[in-house]
Amino acid sequence: MKENNNYAVICHEVTKKFRSDTFKGVRNIFKRPVYFAAVNEVSFEVKYGEIFGIIGPNGSGKSTIIRMLATLLLPDHGYLKVFGMDVTKNTYEVRSLINRVSVDASFFKKLSVKENLAYAARIYGVPVSKAFDKAKVMLKNFGLDPKKMYSPVEDLSRGQQQMVSIARSFLSSPNLLLLDEPTTGLDPKSKKMVQEFILSVKNDHNTSIILTSHDMIEIEKLCERTAFLKDGKIWACGTSNELKKKTGKDNLEDVFLEVTGEEFPEDEEE
Ligand SMILES: Nc1ncnc2c1ncn2[C@@H]1O[C@H](COP(=O)(O)OP(=O)(O)OP(=O)(O)O)[C@@H](O)[C@H]1O
Ligand SMILES: [Mg+2]
Repeated sequence: MKENNNYAVICHEVTKKFRSDTFKGVRNIFKRPVYFAAVNEVSFEVKYGEIFGIIGPNGSGKSTIIRMLATLLLPDHGYLKVFGMDVTKNTYEVRSLINRVSVDASFFKKLSVKENLAYAARIYGVPVSKAFDKAKVMLKNFGLDPKKMYSPVEDLSRGQQQMVSIARSFLSSPNLLLLDEPTTGLDPKSKKMVQEFILSVKNDHNTSIILTSHDMIEIEKLCERTAFLKDGKIWACGTSNELKKKTGKDNLEDVFLEVTGEEFPEDEEE
């Protein structure tokens, strides 16, 4: 690690702009490209060993932040640091310390679960037999039939694929786990197993975790602090109790409805 730092993650005044398909409500047919800020001067820090939540309505910028931390997108302004290393300058070092689970997990769909895990293990430099042992235990805990190890991934349900994706993400014992809606599409029992797994990863390995979710009960249960994004900006960041106090609501779902219930603001496109 290049520099001693008190935080696992620092996101400092980060802005990410994408080209917009619309301009002032109509289709953008102008030659000059128009951009909008999907993430707009966002700042937050994640402590070592913390589970940090990011919530917000669809399109509020959660996955864009995760993708920037995962070195898959470059920020336009500001900087992101993972264990003191800038994600744009120390890309390879950062990649060796993180892993990401996204709701649209990618696999070699024609290959079996086992073959996909073997591929991941080789990339992470983990002995394949050790990786299989580890994955088998995790998948058994998630309730996945061991025979599925030999099925092509495309024959697994979305929830089952999600479980494999979570098991795969932990083969390399990452120091920072980026979980983008990891439990979306899971049945209640599998969801509970995955939530328990996330807590055990934090407690047993002191892994720092960033979790996005639309399940407010999950966020309350797992996250020590949460950033609430709205239109690419942080509306508030704090413990669930602090977010509830800010709105005078009893639970995070009501907080969510209160904050997102307003009319959409005018487009602020340049
Ligand atoms: N590659 C891209 N090109 C253009 N626009 C994009 C791109 N990726 C995301 N966006 C836009 O950026 C905004 C934020 O998207 P993002 O995926 O970060 O939202 P999100 O909060 O993760 O939403 P959800 O809850 O639906 O997953 C959206 O308006 C989206 O359309
Ligand atoms: Mg998303």
